[in-house]
Amino acid sequence: MKPRILVSRPPFPEVLQPLRQRCLVEANETGVAWSLEEFHRRVADKEGLLISGADRIDEKLLDAAPHLKVVCNVAVGYNNIDLAACTERGVLATNTPGVLDETTADLTWALLLAAARRLPEAERFLRAGEWQGWMGDAFLGRDVHHATLGILGLGRIGQAVARRARGFSMKVLYHNRTRLSRKTEKALDVQYVSFARLLREADFLSLHLPYSQNAHHIIGAKELARMKPTAVLVNAARGGLVDDVALIAALRSQRIAAAGLDVFENEPNFNPDFLKLDNVALAPHIGSATRATRLAMFELAVKNLLAALAGKRPPCLLNPEAWTKRRK
Ligand code: DGY
Repeated sequence: MKPRILVSRPPFPEVLQPLRQRCLVEANETGVAWSLEEFHRRVADKEGLLISGADRIDEKLLDAAPHLKVVCNVAVGYNNIDLAACTERGVLATNTPGVLDETTADLTWALLLAAARRLPEAERFLRAGEWQGWMGDAFLGRDVHHATLGILGLGRIGQAVARRARGFSMKVLYHNRTRLSRKTEKALDVQYVSFARLLREADFLSLHLPYSQNAHHIIGAKELARMKPTAVLVNAARGGLVDDVALIAALRSQRIAAAGLDVFENEPNFNPDFLKLDNVALAPHIGSATRATRLAMFELAVKNLLAALAGKRPPCLLNPEAWTKRRK
């Protein structure tokens, strides 16, 4: 008997095809997320879940899925999964690290440049038919080249962002929980500094740390007040790292110059006050959204899923403690 699996968001056909050969697949192909109630109902007889980072896997969901063996995130971030609750029930959990680093770094730079050079504002002006001719003093932005880039969280994605800074002749400072080896620092041409110094000296501050309770509002009113008034904040990591209400106040009062944001608190119902601000470039959580990368993420998630369902250790297991007590 093939295992029953649930795919919560529309997958690529080339992913679905091999899955259907090995599993009984129920997939949401509508593009609209299932209600919580429907999601809970559909997991009741499933052994595997292929989910997005927007699907919450908590105790309630797990209790509604007594046959569940594995939960596979099509995302590297996994703050949507209650790992302890999975482990307690012998449910394996996996993510998709590595395959989206470069693509997410590209989007980070798109936001940084857009915010620095006021692109969204300029485009709105142009689309509104207001352009009368060359303007010597309009849409004056900030130079990116030769400026100081501050990176909070220099993991794989942060490092990919740092590598791109070379092309802009930037000085790169970083702060991490654990300092990298001198060899890596040298190879990346980055300098380790305290969090306080990072805030004080960065012209562009980009966040690349995972969300956790400890990192909740790591950028709040106090931190924003320590940044340069000319600084630009970029967040393509996770909502909740930044206190959005404090950021809106800082942008409104020009306490900092601008922001580029791909992620928000309470997605997709983000704070609408962002829409009233000109000095922010906004995107709807599309950091990894290229066809090639999303396909690679799905493929890795499927690899994790099929391994777990075949009784093999999945390559990107997040809770190895669950392995010995996994459901069989
Ligand atoms: C991730 O992989 O965590 C991304 O945010 C999903 O697009």
